[in-house]
Amino acid sequence: MPNSSDIDLSILQNMPSETKRQWLYLNETDSTNAEIGRRLLNDPIEKELVVIAGCQTSGRGRLGRVWHSEPENGIYLSTLLRPALSPAKLPLVTLMAGLATVLAVNAVIPSPAKLKWPNDLLLNGKKIAGVLCENHSTQTPAVIIGIGINVNHSQFPSEIKDIATSLKLETGLKVNRTSLIKNLVTQLDFQYNELKNNEIKMLIENWSDNTDIFGKTITINKGNQKITGKALRLDKLGRLVIAGKSGHELVLNSGEVSTG
Ligand code: BTN
Repeated sequence: MPNSSDIDLSILQNMPSETKRQWLYLNETDSTNAEIGRRLLNDPIEKELVVIAGCQTSGRGRLGRVWHSEPENGIYLSTLLRPALSPAKLPLVTLMAGLATVLAVNAVIPSPAKLKWPNDLLLNGKKIAGVLCENHSTQTPAVIIGIGINVNHSQFPSEIKDIATSLKLETGLKVNRTSLIKNLVTQLDFQYNELKNNEIKMLIENWSDNTDIFGKTITINKGNQKITGKALRLDKLGRLVIAGKSGHELVLNSGEVSTG
């Protein structure tokens, strides 16, 4: 079926690639992460695969949330990586994908989006993008990276309009999604190579340069627990170090951060 969207697959397929990447564009799917997950069950997927959808009927977010996936205005993209990293270092893949996303987005907008640990992107305090990494490793490593970017949306449903925004709503500019996907995949290639080359210090530094959470008092919702403290830094495994109420340092693996 011809692709009626402004995503030009032929430009993407002609991107230089060391890996002879395979591109798949779907007008509609439930979730691009789920799409790769299903394919993995029947096929080892040796080639690098990128799946992009015009819209998702069951886009999924972190912590079991729904990802609002309005037709043709967002980027809904997943790719499969096979990182040969120890389990302790797998969270670095998530940070790497967040960093690639913020750098790709910031190349097309005038004022920079910021990362919120572990991997949300905020612009003017509202969410414009998120990353969902799902580990499907068996004997061989397999991590599905799903990236959602709110690009040209003009509005959001009332339930999320106070916390979500789009690049267009914040900048007044309509962003070309093909160019943004090109930036994103180029950044993913670059940052993933850095990670494979063990450039972890660089990853942590670059991630830290693109956040504004350090020095702020934050609250982490971890299960039923709420932990409040001042965000200090990331450690070398990408965990968030905070100063708790009594000044002692706590190291957090994951959780939901809110500032204020
Ligand atoms: C989050 O911030 O909660 C993560 C959102 C991730 C959304 C993307 S859209 C493409 C991919 N497919 C999905 O179902 N989810 C991810």
